[in-house]
Amino acid sequence: MMDRGSDSGPMHPPRSTRFAPLGETITMMRDPLAVLTRLAAECGPVSEFRAGPSRAVLVAGPDEIHEVLVTKAEEFGRAKIMTLGLLPVLGYGLVISEGDLHQRQRGLIGPLFTPRLMTRYVDTIAGHVRTHLERWPADGRFDALVAMQRMTHDIMSDLFAGESLEGNEETLAAVTRVFDWEIRLMTRPIVAPLFVPTRRNRQFLRDIAFIRGRAGDLVEARRSGATTGDDILQGLVEARDDKGDMGFDQLVDETINLWASGIETSSDAQFWTAYALSRHPEVAERARAETDRVLGGRAPTAADLADLPYCLQVFKEAMRMYSPAPAFMRQALCDTTIGGFRVGRGTVVFVAPYVMHRSPEYFARPLAFDPDRFAPGRRPPRHAYLPFGSGRHVCVGSSLALLEGQIFTAMLVSSGTLHFLDGASVRPSLQANLRPEGKVYARYEAHDVAPVGG
Ligand code: HEM
Repeated sequence: MMDRGSDSGPMHPPRSTRFAPLGETITMMRDPLAVLTRLAAECGPVSEFRAGPSRAVLVAGPDEIHEVLVTKAEEFGRAKIMTLGLLPVLGYGLVISEGDLHQRQRGLIGPLFTPRLMTRYVDTIAGHVRTHLERWPADGRFDALVAMQRMTHDIMSDLFAGESLEGNEETLAAVTRVFDWEIRLMTRPIVAPLFVPTRRNRQFLRDIAFIRGRAGDLVEARRSGATTGDDILQGLVEARDDKGDMGFDQLVDETINLWASGIETSSDAQFWTAYALSRHPEVAERARAETDRVLGGRAPTAADLADLPYCLQVFKEAMRMYSPAPAFMRQALCDTTIGGFRVGRGTVVFVAPYVMHRSPEYFARPLAFDPDRFAPGRRPPRHAYLPFGSGRHVCVGSSLALLEGQIFTAMLVSSGTLHFLDGASVRPSLQANLRPEGKVYARYEAHDVAPVGG
């Protein structure tokens, strides 16, 4: 066991000896996931590294992550660099807010996303998945991530506000540009601040005004009773606590937060699930045998979900190997310790499920895609599997995400095979979420479905 303290108090976390000082920063910009993985392998669950001019801390062990997100959550706030960057897009919604506002909003929004409430959306989700799967073969070769984003957009727009984005290319284009802007902000060392009128910034501000305008119209129509629906927006508008409802501005912020977070990470998760299935035909075959037996070609209903455990295991294992939220940030609000190591006030902390999920310390043969890790009765070591985070900011949409993932997996394997062109060269990269590096093209081959019982 490493000695983490001395007479002068706790020690700083270890640093890598392998990188030259500038080399670490340069490699970090080029391939952050590789640097974070190497750091944890060399230095253990808590390490220090150079992030531009300052030093940051990487946390990649179950107990240490639990400390940051749960037991010492009071001492770690959201990272300023993240909240300030996202403020123009997300306002003071759930993804940004903290303290009393966050606690109140979580109390109002959390109950809208319980597993029981989510199952009423099974038919809607399955309907959109089917429409997209049927469209793919006609598209020939297509950009696989864009295809998943379009599918998730349609699902989320319908669940959220009973609207389909189909034919609404303007909204889709504005949302895509805003996501790209966000990714640039997170991944480029220097980005022109918004007050600098670059072409990209002016477009971004127009897109934000457009999206806020549309969200505002939707909220207003529901508040005035001009429209109504059996959807998440209706739940938001009707949500009340002892202080009353959320108020118009907060409702607009939450609409954008939930809608955006519901699309981004989920489409990445579907992409990596489809990719993993294409690389592991034996897993796809086993999932297909399950869907043939249970569904025989029809779409799943809520009553079928319990009979499709392997499809859910596949999705969970995809989120282990390709954690859609590979690393998220916190900032120390006071001088404190993580795993016994000293962490100064203001230090940015990277919590990295991606690194933990791929460590041989917590998962045997971590690079093998093995859905049986999640077979009934088996579970990963305590706190070692965190695709949805943990503690007060744990993903509010995790039940919906799991539902979408299970349905998508079942319908994908049951109706065909997605062939990734040049699949061997696909590399995960950290772009706010986990995305493939560069464009990845695929072709969908629909196949015949065995009759039920056949
Ligand atoms: C596979 C899909 C998804 C993954 C992997 C995922 C992952 C995560 C993670 C890791 C966090 C915690 C971040 C942190 O602690 O800083 C988070 C928070 C959040 N997620 Fe998700 N998410 C997914 C889908 C969704 C969906 C479908 C929705 C909405 C319908 C959603 C809404 C949110 C919101 C609002 C937060 C902030 C919660 C808070 O701070 O209280 N997510 N998500």
